[in-house]
Amino acid sequence: MEREISEISGKALHELGLVAGSEALEGWRLTWLSRRGELSTLLSRLRDVPAEDRPRIGQEINRLKESLRKAYGEKKAHFDAAATREAVSSERVDVTLPGSPPSPGRLHLTTLTLRKICRIFHGMGFEILESPEVESDSYNFELLNMPPHHPARDMWDTFYLTENVLLRTHTSPGQIHAMKPAAPRPIRVVLPGRVYRYEAVSARSEFMFFQVEGLAVGPDITLAHLKGVLETFARQMFGRDRRIRLRGSYFPFTEPSVEFDMDCILCDGKGCRICKGTGWLEIGGAGMVHPTVLENGGYDPDVFSGLAFGMGPERIAMLIHRVDDIRYLYSNDLRFLSQFS
Ligand code: FA5
Repeated sequence: MEREISEISGKALHELGLVAGSEALEGWRLTWLSRRGELSTLLSRLRDVPAEDRPRIGQEINRLKESLRKAYGEKKAHFDAAATREAVSSERVDVTLPGSPPSPGRLHLTTLTLRKICRIFHGMGFEILESPEVESDSYNFELLNMPPHHPARDMWDTFYLTENVLLRTHTSPGQIHAMKPAAPRPIRVVLPGRVYRYEAVSARSEFMFFQVEGLAVGPDITLAHLKGVLETFARQMFGRDRRIRLRGSYFPFTEPSVEFDMDCILCDGKGCRICKGTGWLEIGGAGMVHPTVLENGGYDPDVFSGLAFGMGPERIAMLIHRVDDIRYLYSNDLRFLSQFS
């Protein structure tokens, strides 16, 4: 049996030397080291060995088993390392490939439009100010000449937070915020900002949108100044050929009041879904600051007069870019938003 052990050792190691891949190595293990392999058979024959020789022969078989396991382990480690190297090299990053450029953020169409509007008014000497989105009833209505129960409050469907606190329905409360600390000095300001209305969303109307408020107060400001300011703005915003019209209107905080419209660029004034067939698109409301509002802002209405206007940048953006539904602006679809820069 000792001779057999030495023969098995020689043969097994010789065959192991010929093994060239992982699959063949597994075959070798099954032949020599598995439960039904040659060494197990050898061990099972130990019971036929005379009892006095059994411990020695048993030890020899165990030594052989250990040395074959060791040789097998080394060979396996060698193949595993080669396989890992192969996997790594096939996944290697090619640093010479062109990178994928990160997609940079961009400004929203409303922001771009607001900035352009503000730039134009800044060019006419207007300062840019901001005022709060959460307002008191007093600033949103009372100080703008709408005491409690005034029917004109119904012009703006309001989100109330508490009985006296609300989300501003327009940027006009900014007029009071701008006047109070400045009076009695003349001022010229525009106040861009978000406003909220409890109204149904449609192709023309959102429940949350922006406005730009304008206000100029001085000793002899007239309706002619208002017309000049609005006309200058319209020409710089929409081009020399655009037409603008003023229509008599009503706002409690201006007297007289007007609404100013632009001819509809989408249909060239012929009438379409957006302009509701009129050929004109309302851009904003305006007028001469009401004496009560001047007084509430700290100005003496016998000495000072003022012009005021409020316009919707979304409607302006829709005109310029021929967007026929305001909901595209706030549904956050990048396919739409990424067209503007
Ligand atoms: C006002 O809000 C007045 N505060 C404007 C004003 C200011 C008048 C100063 C006189 C002096 P009006 O509700 O018409 O007015 O809104 C002004 C503009 O906001 C509209 O012309 C329109 O361009 C825009 N706008 C109004 N409602 C919506 C809406 N739901 N969605 C989008 N834009 C709107």
